[in-house]
Amino acid sequence: SANLPVVLEEALEKAGRRVQDVDVFASTAGPGLVAALLVGNTAAKALALAAKKPFIAVNHLEGHMLSPFITRPQGLTPHLSLVVSGGHSLLVDVRGTGDYTLLGRSRDDAAGEAFDKVAKMLALPYPGGPEIDKLANEGDPTRFAFPRPMMHEDHLDFSFSGLKTAVLYTLPKLTPSGDPHDLDRQTMCDLCAGVRQAIIDVLLHKAMKALQKTRHKVLAVSGGVSCNSALREQLKTACERRRIELVLPPNSLTTDNAAMIAFAGLLRARHGDFSPLDTPVDPNMKLAGAQTRK
Ligand code: KG4
Ligand code: ZN
Repeated sequence: SANLPVVLEEALEKAGRRVQDVDVFASTAGPGLVAALLVGNTAAKALALAAKKPFIAVNHLEGHMLSPFITRPQGLTPHLSLVVSGGHSLLVDVRGTGDYTLLGRSRDDAAGEAFDKVAKMLALPYPGGPEIDKLANEGDPTRFAFPRPMMHEDHLDFSFSGLKTAVLYTLPKLTPSGDPHDLDRQTMCDLCAGVRQAIIDVLLHKAMKALQKTRHKVLAVSGGVSCNSALREQLKTACERRRIELVLPPNSLTTDNAAMIAFAGLLRARHGDFSPLDTPVDPNMKLAGAQTRK
């Protein structure tokens, strides 16, 4: 609440715009923590009311999902979407704005959550994804054979919770105290590389399977985990080999940001898809049309 007016003024100043110049006000309506949702939502509604402009309630996941297209010159196109954030791992068949079919999701931890939980066990700072990514670059991904749960099963769901258990059982074998602070640096890097590669293998394998099933020729990957350096590299190689267009957001737009919510709002506005000012926030908001699976 204290920071939002400051950020808003700074954003308007940088853009060289006044509040009255804004055509549409969009804000995240869910899913997320209700207190945080209410702050942004109330501010956007108040601005819309004061400026006499329409308001759009945006789903946070839709923001991530469309974010790769912010910088794609040809704009949005039907595609397969892989959303990998701290709270969600989803495979979605996207045919247009608001036209989504959920093909697969994580049955337990999200990919980002797996990075964060393993990092915590290794006494690395939060968020764990970037830390593991950095250390993994100096590690050997083949030294530890971590599981790739559900990778070869025919469905498109994920499971990542077994990974933290595998690391938990591995630690006491490496140091009698089981304390990650006692690990030598190379072992730490090898553990990180092993975990990172296990997560990437599963994501990559399921995404390629989903491309085959849907026959989409475009893959868009978004969410905080999509800035993982090795994931980006391996996605590029896999897509080039199959002549699939890979659409990735720039690193700055992978983790939570306002631009992706504005962009989703813009696409919705073009469809005249506005929200009444009494639209409530919803901490458990589902992706419209994506609740049911094929
Ligand atoms: O999309 P996001 O900003 O927030 C949610 O909506 O959840 O994603 C945050 C997640 C965290 O779990 C974080 O560890 C992960 O993204 N993350 C990464 C990397 N950077 C952020 N995971 C792997 N490698 C990274 N480089
Ligand atoms: Zn997010």
